[in-house]
Amino acid sequence: MAEEDITVLMDEKRIFKPSKDFVEKTNVKQWMKEHNIDSLEELYKKTDDYKWFWKEMADEILEFYEPYDNVLDWDSPFAKWFTGGKYNIVHDALDKHAKGPNKDKVAYYFESEPGDADKELTYHDLYVEVNKLANAMKKLGIKKGDRVGIYMPMIAELPIAMLATAKLGAVHSVVFSGFSAQAFRDRVNDCEAKLVITCDSFYRRGKKVPLKSQTDEALEDAPTVEHSIVYKRTGDEVDWTDDRDLWWNEIVKDEPEECETVKTDANDPLFFLYTSGTTGKPKGIIHAHAGYALGTATTLKWVFDIKDDDVYWCAADIGWITGHSYIVYAPLILGSSSIIYEGAPNHPGPDRWWEIVEKYKVSVLYTSPTSVRLFMKFGEEWPEKHNLNSLRLLGSVGEPINPEAWMWYYKHIGGEKCQIMDTWWQTETGHFAITPLPLTPLKPGSATKSFPGVSADVYNENGEPITNAGGNLVLTHPWPGMLRGIYKNPERYRNTYWSKFDDIYLAGDVTRKDSDGYFWIQGRADDVLNVSGHRIGNSEVESALVSHDKVAESAVVGKPHDLKGESITAYVVLKTNVEPSDALKQELRTHVGEEVGKIARPDEIWFVTDVPKTRSGKIMRRVIRSKALGKEVGDTSTLANPEAVDEIDKAQ
Ligand code: WT7
Repeated sequence: MAEEDITVLMDEKRIFKPSKDFVEKTNVKQWMKEHNIDSLEELYKKTDDYKWFWKEMADEILEFYEPYDNVLDWDSPFAKWFTGGKYNIVHDALDKHAKGPNKDKVAYYFESEPGDADKELTYHDLYVEVNKLANAMKKLGIKKGDRVGIYMPMIAELPIAMLATAKLGAVHSVVFSGFSAQAFRDRVNDCEAKLVITCDSFYRRGKKVPLKSQTDEALEDAPTVEHSIVYKRTGDEVDWTDDRDLWWNEIVKDEPEECETVKTDANDPLFFLYTSGTTGKPKGIIHAHAGYALGTATTLKWVFDIKDDDVYWCAADIGWITGHSYIVYAPLILGSSSIIYEGAPNHPGPDRWWEIVEKYKVSVLYTSPTSVRLFMKFGEEWPEKHNLNSLRLLGSVGEPINPEAWMWYYKHIGGEKCQIMDTWWQTETGHFAITPLPLTPLKPGSATKSFPGVSADVYNENGEPITNAGGNLVLTHPWPGMLRGIYKNPERYRNTYWSKFDDIYLAGDVTRKDSDGYFWIQGRADDVLNVSGHRIGNSEVESALVSHDKVAESAVVGKPHDLKGESITAYVVLKTNVEPSDALKQELRTHVGEEVGKIARPDEIWFVTDVPKTRSGKIMRRVIRSKALGKEVGDTSTLANPEAVDEIDKAQ
């Protein structure tokens, strides 16, 4: 698409409306009819009574063991949903299907990268696998409330491990398999995991990634971990610690195919997932059973309009919240069939994804702007080689989608017939918070409006709602999938999200609301990078650099990047008598890769003698970033060392 077309598009403020025929068949339209609601406006108005709405949806979707007393208890900032109810998400995600009409329906199509291990798991297969593993875990002493660290790639055994943990009422903490041993160790230690689950190795872009040896390294200093269960994915030779390591494949062999699901309280924790913040170490975001189940399932049912015959593919990694919510829990609760793909998008060729869409006749595809831009770079000749006619809805998440990428996705993947659901949400929100419905008129680049039963707004610094100006994105009342806190740190929870405006959730994104009430997310307000749609704290990369023995200090900023959204630039102050060199830059990049993960490796490293700081010693990233981008630096009067700003210049 040529540059001029986009400009025209934006000038015209073109709006993309779904066809009437399509709208008529959607789940949400069906629901509206049943509730005598005629228009989208009326739907939003009616669902302002959010407790009523969520109760309606809970009655429709969830099955409790024992009924709840209250829809919501809100002792700000702590929420409890469906109090008094006995519930376990595994009942809705698995047990009810395995004993019901979905028994023989495929839950997951697993597509391995080299094609050596492809398989289909029906709901009944999944149920049996989960039960066997849960029984084996029980023998290792895992019980309600225990934490289990899971470090696994995109294979079907990852959801199996999560579900087995939840089945016992234990809490999983999944760590993205692209993170380093050190990152896994930090998270395992923070949540005091008793057990970890991993695999020998897995395939990524034709190479094997030795996950077991990374796990071994992490466990060198993880005092709470008693056992490590290892799934045999590739059959590679691995080191073994006899009194700690157990082969998954062996321990499940003789276990029974039934295992009773522990009846937890509706508000018991289901999982922790670590995410980046401005300072210090990642925060362990807590999610709980029933509210999370309801929020994820309702949003998937309405936004992606999941129906019985859909083949749905969320192409994210389960190690992030997107995968937890929209590969594991929501699709299973809805009894749908989805895809899990192990490998890289361009292996063996740049059309691997389109091959998968064609092979499984995928009808709903959910991915990120980063991936869309990557495919744009490869060129439309790759999707053109395949029949993508099965697609009927597309989704985007992770960062604002630029109109150019939106148009490309719409045209070359969706064949100009699929609406694009640009979903805004966070690890903390658990599920979509701002998103179109399939009947929403779309404006490319806007995530449109809050989901019914969720209420977003934009506030100025005084807490007043504003329109047509950048401000603080907030959510004005509790929602079911909301985080319940930060593990072991209620103060940080209160301060980060609930202290700027009373009883109002602060998302940390700068956002504009236009005259039609559409939201335009502009990016993070704090010092958090967004690389390929995932949050990485500037401070995490800085501390990784400083942990290298030749580095005295560092400052890390993000720069706009065509593919990744943001790229990482690091300014590094070396210790005295250390010679700067290109080899050292390479060494530092590798070091950050080992400390945090490859995703956090700086694209650029500059050696400087000082970095700009405030008198209280805070690194002034705003100043550094402006300088690095050649922009006006603004007020530098609060700097302790204004001369350090020139250093940034010299580095370019
Ligand atoms: C941050 C949350 C939610 C899963 C992926 C990331 C940005 C997310 C959008 C979108 C514009 C978006 C925000 C948000 N973000 N989706 N559709 N449009 N920005 O989860 O790592 O918790 O990051 O991602 O900045 O705050 P996360």
